[in-house]
Amino acid sequence: MTTSLTAWQALRAHADRLRGTHMRDWFDGPQGPARAARFTAEACGLTLDYAKNRITDETLALLFALAAQARVAERRDAMYAGEPVNVTEHRAALHIALRAYPEDGYRALGEPVGAQVEAVLAQMARFADAVRSGAWTGVDGRAITDVVNIGIGGSDLGPRMVCRALTDAQTTGPRMHFVANVDGSDLARTLTGLDAATTLVIVCSKTFTTLETMANARTARDWFLRRGVSRAGLARHFVAVSTNREAVAGFGIDPANMFPFWDWVGGRFSLWSAVGLSIAVAIGFERFRQLLDGARAMDIHFAGTPPQQNLPMILGLLDVWYRSFLGAASRCVAPYCEPLELLPAFLQQLEMESNGKSVGLDGSPIAAGSAAVVWGTTGTNGQHAYFQMMHQGSQLVPVDFIATLAPVSALPGHHTKLLANCFAQGEALLRGRSADEVRAEGVRDEALVPHLVFDGNRPSNTLLLQRLDPYHLGALLALSEHRTFVQGALWQINSFDQWGVELGKKLAAPIQRELEGTAGVVAHDASTAALIRRARAAQPTAAS
Ligand code: F6P
Repeated sequence: MTTSLTAWQALRAHADRLRGTHMRDWFDGPQGPARAARFTAEACGLTLDYAKNRITDETLALLFALAAQARVAERRDAMYAGEPVNVTEHRAALHIALRAYPEDGYRALGEPVGAQVEAVLAQMARFADAVRSGAWTGVDGRAITDVVNIGIGGSDLGPRMVCRALTDAQTTGPRMHFVANVDGSDLARTLTGLDAATTLVIVCSKTFTTLETMANARTARDWFLRRGVSRAGLARHFVAVSTNREAVAGFGIDPANMFPFWDWVGGRFSLWSAVGLSIAVAIGFERFRQLLDGARAMDIHFAGTPPQQNLPMILGLLDVWYRSFLGAASRCVAPYCEPLELLPAFLQQLEMESNGKSVGLDGSPIAAGSAAVVWGTTGTNGQHAYFQMMHQGSQLVPVDFIATLAPVSALPGHHTKLLANCFAQGEALLRGRSADEVRAEGVRDEALVPHLVFDGNRPSNTLLLQRLDPYHLGALLALSEHRTFVQGALWQINSFDQWGVELGKKLAAPIQRELEGTAGVVAHDASTAALIRRARAAQPTAAS
């Protein structure tokens, strides 16, 4: 168990000793000027300044000792070797092979995977080129103008986020849409105004059984049929991304129009696979390959760089430091980059579905804590909403500031304002403002002083991308994956299963029948039974 490791116990004692120390004192002390250089690391065009953390050299040494004792490097090597690191499902977790080159020679459970990965990438390239060039047409011979990706969770969040990040009004190619929610208003709003003859649907589901995706796919199919597309003609308008060939054929999609992937690709790690088909269509295959290349560069960095300069290792260790030793229940992700507005939602699934567990690899309860709540929105918007709590609230919330050095927008004057705000927030969280400083600023009303005091000592990382392009985004996302892996390795949990989502799915089926009136309301707690009855009563068409 992690908590019995000597480094863990040493970190506990160390955390107690650090309590009451203010980061400002470190910056103002003799080591202050060297602190930024000491706590900065770079890789793959990303620079991480982690100087504004509640850490000293001793903290880092203890954290690296913890990584060694928890055998993080050995677990990483096992993942890279395609061993069954997903122990509850006896599967490899080999998303790194999706962005590799065949000569990298990855194997999942001993089987080489390079050739099949390359074959699917080639299939994706052909299809993306055909759709973008207009060679792939709808039933009446017109080019595709709109692509609707129907999927949820990992079959939605990654592609949706990347398409948002890497496309703008100048991007050529079809318009991209994403539908996830089983709430019909999501699909209805998306389809409104689209022309069936020039619309293409990508049904994206690893299992091809997910309730939301299949319900939306069936409704979309009916929408095409009602608009005069024949059943045979649907082949021009529906393609599938899945591991489940039988279910795809059963739905009526020609397996020739299916883009496969494999059970060693977890949903939340799948945007690099055929799940990224919508990305390849949106930005072109060449730029999709650049996304993979950025991720591959980060994979190489993670595998081969000593912990002291290893970005995923440093970030994963800091996450565990705050969560398990300093009691931080959440972490805020603040991209100062509007195109990255969907990054927090992507990271929520990545980290919380991976590490939101209560038992370790051996099935025993975790005493160390596990995934923090990940949340956030873009800066500067968050500043005018919840940053009040970050500056003066009673909870410790570490922040990840993410920004690009090169402006994303060509509008003059905006980028410096954006960066100035990003850096100022980190500085304010660090320094705070003392009562004496408040008075020195001329405040005479003593009753007001405590309201104007900021404690400071609030930690943040600042991650700078050279620019927002496929390569750097790929590196950032792979960094996030590996950071999540490091957290899980330190907590000694399986980051690759998600049993916690099963129970709710199972209970929804009988409730659906009860709501539809095809079954009586039975065997629920009193609260759930009352809610079902109330919902039934509100549906005039449902049998009572
Ligand atoms: O219910 C959770 C989950 O299984 C996620 O892990 C996954 O990304 C999502 O549902 C979608 O699953 P699928 O791609 O099989 O439709």
